[in-house]
Amino acid sequence: MTTTSEPTSTTLEGCRALAERLPLERKVELLTGATMWRLIALPELGMRSVTFSDGPVGVRGLGETEGETSILLPTPSGIAAAWDLDLAREVGAAFAQEARSHGVDVVLAPQVNIQRTPVGGRHFECFSEDPALTARIGVALVSGIQDAGVAACMKHYVANDSETERTSMVSRVDARTLREVYLAPFAAAVEAGVWSLMAAYNGVDDGVEVAPMTEHRHLNVDILKHDLGFDGVLVSDWEATRNAAEAAAGGLDLVMPGPGGPWAEGLLTAVRDGRVREGEIDDKVARVLLLAHRVGAFEATPRPVLERDLAALARRAAARGTVVLRAPDDGAVWDRPAPRTIALLGANAERPHVLGGGSSTVHPAHVVTPHEGLAARWPDATIVSERGGDPRVFAPRLDIAGRVPAGLGVTWLDSAGAVVCEDALEAHDGWLRDIPAAATDVILTAEVTLDEPGIHRLSVGTVGIHRTKIDGVVASEGERRVGVDCVLDSSVNTPHGLPVDVEVVEPKTVRLTSRHQVIDAAGYGRMVRAELRHALPRRSDEQEMADAVAAARAADLAVVVVGTNEECESEGWDRATLSLPGCQDELVSRVLAEVPDAVIIVNAGAPMLLPWLDQARTVLWAWFPGQEAGHALADVLAGRIEASGRLPWTLPAHEEDVPVPHAVPVAGVVDYAEGVHVGYRAWERSGATAAAPFGHGLGWTRWEHAVGAAGVSVEGIDVDVTVRNVGTRAGREVVQVYVEAPGDEHDRPVRWLGGFAAVTVSPGEEASVTVRIPRRALEIWDVRQDAWVLPEGVYRLHTGRSVRDIRGVIDVPVDATP
Ligand code: BGC
Repeated sequence: MTTTSEPTSTTLEGCRALAERLPLERKVELLTGATMWRLIALPELGMRSVTFSDGPVGVRGLGETEGETSILLPTPSGIAAAWDLDLAREVGAAFAQEARSHGVDVVLAPQVNIQRTPVGGRHFECFSEDPALTARIGVALVSGIQDAGVAACMKHYVANDSETERTSMVSRVDARTLREVYLAPFAAAVEAGVWSLMAAYNGVDDGVEVAPMTEHRHLNVDILKHDLGFDGVLVSDWEATRNAAEAAAGGLDLVMPGPGGPWAEGLLTAVRDGRVREGEIDDKVARVLLLAHRVGAFEATPRPVLERDLAALARRAAARGTVVLRAPDDGAVWDRPAPRTIALLGANAERPHVLGGGSSTVHPAHVVTPHEGLAARWPDATIVSERGGDPRVFAPRLDIAGRVPAGLGVTWLDSAGAVVCEDALEAHDGWLRDIPAAATDVILTAEVTLDEPGIHRLSVGTVGIHRTKIDGVVASEGERRVGVDCVLDSSVNTPHGLPVDVEVVEPKTVRLTSRHQVIDAAGYGRMVRAELRHALPRRSDEQEMADAVAAARAADLAVVVVGTNEECESEGWDRATLSLPGCQDELVSRVLAEVPDAVIIVNAGAPMLLPWLDQARTVLWAWFPGQEAGHALADVLAGRIEASGRLPWTLPAHEEDVPVPHAVPVAGVVDYAEGVHVGYRAWERSGATAAAPFGHGLGWTRWEHAVGAAGVSVEGIDVDVTVRNVGTRAGREVVQVYVEAPGDEHDRPVRWLGGFAAVTVSPGEEASVTVRIPRRALEIWDVRQDAWVLPEGVYRLHTGRSVRDIRGVIDVPVDATP
């Protein structure tokens, strides 16, 4: 074999020739992770190892350095809400910069699944319920990452739009719906040159084949690689691959994580006994080599680390994407004089939820709380904080709450129950990972001194087989052994634990003893989960709300921050309700009844019911804002940055109006029976009135629109719209164009987003924008011809500020061959 330090070519063909020179064993070795995040290096080709890390709110890093921190950007829906392709590109560039400084080559982002149901657990990680908006933001973000020489890994291919039974459920989606909705963002990214995609956990029944996405030959090979021309790497979602030969034949290129897994053992055998052709292996290896080449893994020196102020970007992005749901015409908060006293209310003001739960988690060096942000903006103001009720079910972690338990110790046991060893711990953050090889169980002990009189609530949050004793009482027992499943369903991150209430009259010391299984979580490693929790005696919710109302009454400015928290919105499960947890609705209503001018901030990723919405004058949707949460909030309230966001999804007023209220599989199948009528398209069909429609966002000025001429070309339709800023502040307007098809054949949506364009205009001035509706946005997927076709006729274009705030209409005749 000849060795070379450079691939002979930067094309798939060239890399295939290079791949063919490697021995089969080496090829197979390359196709499974060497670790959780790394591939093997191939020094014989001059290739270092390629590394991966999550996305999509930052780049977590490889977990190889103690105390590794990352920039935490706003949640992806919040980025999409800016409807700003330049911003999305900047966010992509920020990921690339972070990737470089963490030694990462491939960022596992963006996520372009569709927000099919508002209860979807990873709704916050997706961009929109609309495929075109998703695709445009997704492509811009990918180009921001890849232009800097880092790979994007767009995920999760495909129809991975909910979490219930997520590793086994089958999404049943017809071919047309797949093409027009769920495949659309992936197809756009492939056309734009994305370097890798992630094959989802779920299966898909597309009418041609029913298979897990790691094995789906029709979608992975016929459509993705042949039809769409994808030349990148199709990498499995973590621990998603089950069957060696099926996944190889089904178009998967890379199994993650490793070492081990179905290909480590099975792929070589499958090639040797003829179930998988070596040519198929060469194609996979070539794709990995091409990816390695693209990210610079063949280069002698690492690519330079970039230097930009990413905290400033995180702050600007969070403010820009904030959506003004309601604001008064006069006396808006950003036009008011600086407040001297501020009442800062709500559990999410105290502990803002800055990112959703699950694999997207990154660890920022700091989080700017609302209090810090407002204090920095208005240093002379007095800020009074009141929680107004506790919406969390689980008590705070004992160590975070500032109480260090005494007598912290572990006794490791083997499978026969014999002691392997004992250790004293100095601290315990709820995780044990340094586990003796022979240990299968552990007994954890701690002593907590309870000083304050009243009811203390103690618990141990855990998963799997366990027995917890608190103050002599058996609090909780579990008999179900867990493995990697508890990571994949995220229960390990937000573990349950039954509490014991301890009444304290005189200070006393309570002993906790809990026994836990060691969890063998495959590629995620071995771990024990035991989070010690302690809630101190506290005022009742009723009293906390009364105190919050009193604080609001006494202040110049009352700000109530309500929202979800780590117990509600996370990867791993879908939500059971669209209501805010705890008594937050009641808190808002009570504050508004006394202080109608109070500003209500919603700190949530996915739609929530806001029963008090009409009662409020100012309501802002602030997403999961990332690490600069408090500064961004202050920038918006003080009128420093316009909250120019527009909703990328529909905000329901009533649960019963929601078109797809859940995604619970029936006999393992989630039926996408609504077809192409997803999100606001279904609302247009049912006629139900939402609390806020798709595309809604008031910004801080007022606008008039006038639709001008429209021109048709092979590229699509270009429509001119003039917008006039008739308010008193400069603002950014997002002109949205919704298309209505000629005739009523083809079961098309009532109307759908054809295109959008944005412009910033000074008060009293006007500007023209041209909105492009690409030809593809007019076409349908014809299942008989297996091709895109353009139905001819007169298309009606609705131009406006949201799908329900239409300001102009123009009819445009379109020929199939313009
Ligand atoms: C998630 C992926 C993620 C991967 C690695 C999986 O459970 O579905 O989105 O990239 O874990 O953390």
